[in-house]
Amino acid sequence: MGLGEGPILKKSVDLAVRHPDINFIANDLHRIDAQDFDHYLRRIEVRYRPKNLTFATGMHAAEAVSKEAPNSLDHVYAHFLLKNMPRAEREELYTELQRAMRPRAQLKIVENKHYEKPRLRELAAHGFGVTSRPATTKEAMKLGTESAEAQAKQWAYIKATENKKLIMDKLFTPWWERVRKKLAENGETPETIELIHKEAEHNFLSHDPPFVVITATKARERKTQ
Ligand SMILES: C[S@@+](CC[C@H](N)C(=O)[O-])C[C@H]1O[C@@H](n2cnc3c(N)ncnc32)[C@H](O)[C@@H]1O
Repeated sequence: MGLGEGPILKKSVDLAVRHPDINFIANDLHRIDAQDFDHYLRRIEVRYRPKNLTFATGMHAAEAVSKEAPNSLDHVYAHFLLKNMPRAEREELYTELQRAMRPRAQLKIVENKHYEKPRLRELAAHGFGVTSRPATTKEAMKLGTESAEAQAKQWAYIKATENKKLIMDKLFTPWWERVRKKLAENGETPETIELIHKEAEHNFLSHDPPFVVITATKARERKTQ
């Protein structure tokens, strides 16, 4: 199941075409426009609508997951989604995922590196086993999503620019002003906002990989005695 898949559900469509024996569910807050969808199929030279792809669009990710049976989802991914979601909604999503994912199933998250620490903390608090690793712009390009490609290009520019004063004055400062406001509106705590600020500053100034891949694993079911 792909969450927050974007306007044409690109990743889910590509996966469904490539793996006809696996069932995929694609979610986005915005309802899929059938014309855009068909246009994308034509672009990739696919002359049929994949039968193994179900839409769960026009609804929040948590609501989409809530419609799935308990212990039924084998794998879930969310690329550049969670940073847009209010904290309460993310928590609702984690609770629904704990119910709907099968034991030992994985949730794969790709995000900007500066969101890594708060995400690991909140996922662990919801009972997931968590690991993470940095990811480069090259890796993001290979992800095959529109956001990943756009983000990878921006970050490649930021990382390659030696004039860090220019980067901080022209990019970081106005960006952070917008993001700080949004984070506060989304109900993040002052401590989390400060942590993201510190990590984002490092991300803009360092040559470290700008992205993170987080793997959150649902625990194996315990036998009741
Ligand atoms: C930055 S885009 C990422 C799209 C895609 N995953 C990619 O990597 O190109 C975020 C997407 O999440 C969707 N979105 C935002 N809030 C959402 C929510 N609460 N539930 C589901 N989708 C949401 C937006 O409509 C948008 O398409």
